[in-house]
Amino acid sequence: MLEVLNPQPQDKILQLIAMYRDDPRDTKIDLGVGVYKDATGLTPVMRAVKAAEKKLWEVEVTKSYTGLAGEPAYNAAMVGMILGEGFADRAASVATPGGTGAIRQALELIRMASPGATVWLSNPTWPNHPSIIRYLGMKMAEYRYFDAETRGVDFAGVLEDLGRVAKGDIVLLHGCCHNPTGANFTADQWAQVADVLEARGAIPFIDLAYQGFGDGLEEDAAATRMIAARFPEVLIAASCSKNFGIYRERTGVLIALTEPARRAVVQGNLAYLNRQNYSFPPDHGARLVTMILEDDALRADWKAELEEVRLNMLSLRKALAEELRRATNSDRFDFVADHRGMFSRLGLTETQVNVLRDDHGIYMVGDSRINIAGLNARTVPILAAAIAKVSG
Ligand code: LMR
Repeated sequence: MLEVLNPQPQDKILQLIAMYRDDPRDTKIDLGVGVYKDATGLTPVMRAVKAAEKKLWEVEVTKSYTGLAGEPAYNAAMVGMILGEGFADRAASVATPGGTGAIRQALELIRMASPGATVWLSNPTWPNHPSIIRYLGMKMAEYRYFDAETRGVDFAGVLEDLGRVAKGDIVLLHGCCHNPTGANFTADQWAQVADVLEARGAIPFIDLAYQGFGDGLEEDAAATRMIAARFPEVLIAASCSKNFGIYRERTGVLIALTEPARRAVVQGNLAYLNRQNYSFPPDHGARLVTMILEDDALRADWKAELEEVRLNMLSLRKALAEELRRATNSDRFDFVADHRGMFSRLGLTETQVNVLRDDHGIYMVGDSRINIAGLNARTVPILAAAIAKVSG
């Protein structure tokens, strides 16, 4: 049986981890996978997570199964963090193994409810979006998103392409901190996107993997909340990997907003999907998140540290934009300071990306996406000088 299997293409982002690890140069710089790192290169366990883990060890009395949808307290806390008050009667939700698990379950739900629907993705998007959709055998289309000239959003292209969406199609939107580009809609553009989707009868599907990494915890949820208030049906796949720094605990949530009268049936379908795929979702990370969100002191400390992380990335952006101005004697990389979140797509060619890796030991994704958090005060000028050199 197994002899028929062909080798699978390697995931381009995850492949970089191994390439970087195997590079013997001690000057190497890792700007690849989207993991937050402090100035020393460490991905720290957040203070509130450590404190919650200690407390959990003291109070936990069983490791028996949780509910199929995860712990109700976790789901409620996540709905509150993402949507605020007022959505409980419309929100069906399940805990999932990370944000990827939430996206996978959302797509499975779409396939069950509307097998013929097309899922629209921004061009570009996180490569695992099209990969999972293809794997599930679903229909997929792209809407223009990134302007390669300005490195901002090609908003005319967005509106034109979303204007072709058919009734009942699904449109995947990055709630904040667009991955891989770092270019995001303004509030006014979000409202226009909502207008088009409403006019077309499309269903919004929001990927929210970086809440708190862009403009702030509440600010980063604003677009999702606006969409949630305007549309009768919305899917939201959210991750706690980045904002709680619990990557390997696999902690995510899928929220399906529907009419209150339909909520119980949707909830049952989400639980059914969990059962088919892995039975019970992982609980350790979800429990830590619940403890933090429910405890005033832990929550305040977590928010303060998340804000430190966000501001650190923002100051690295500003420093990099300034260094690039100096190194290239031009303003063509000023967009780096305007982008938000972990990533910026620099607009370099694949050859330039390869030269940066081979000659300078600087690792970024092949589309020239950099993880801003991989930088520090020492490496910002090194990166700027190398970019200036390869881009002439
Ligand atoms: C990324 O885009 O680098 C992260 O979301 C990690 C991943 O799983 O690809």
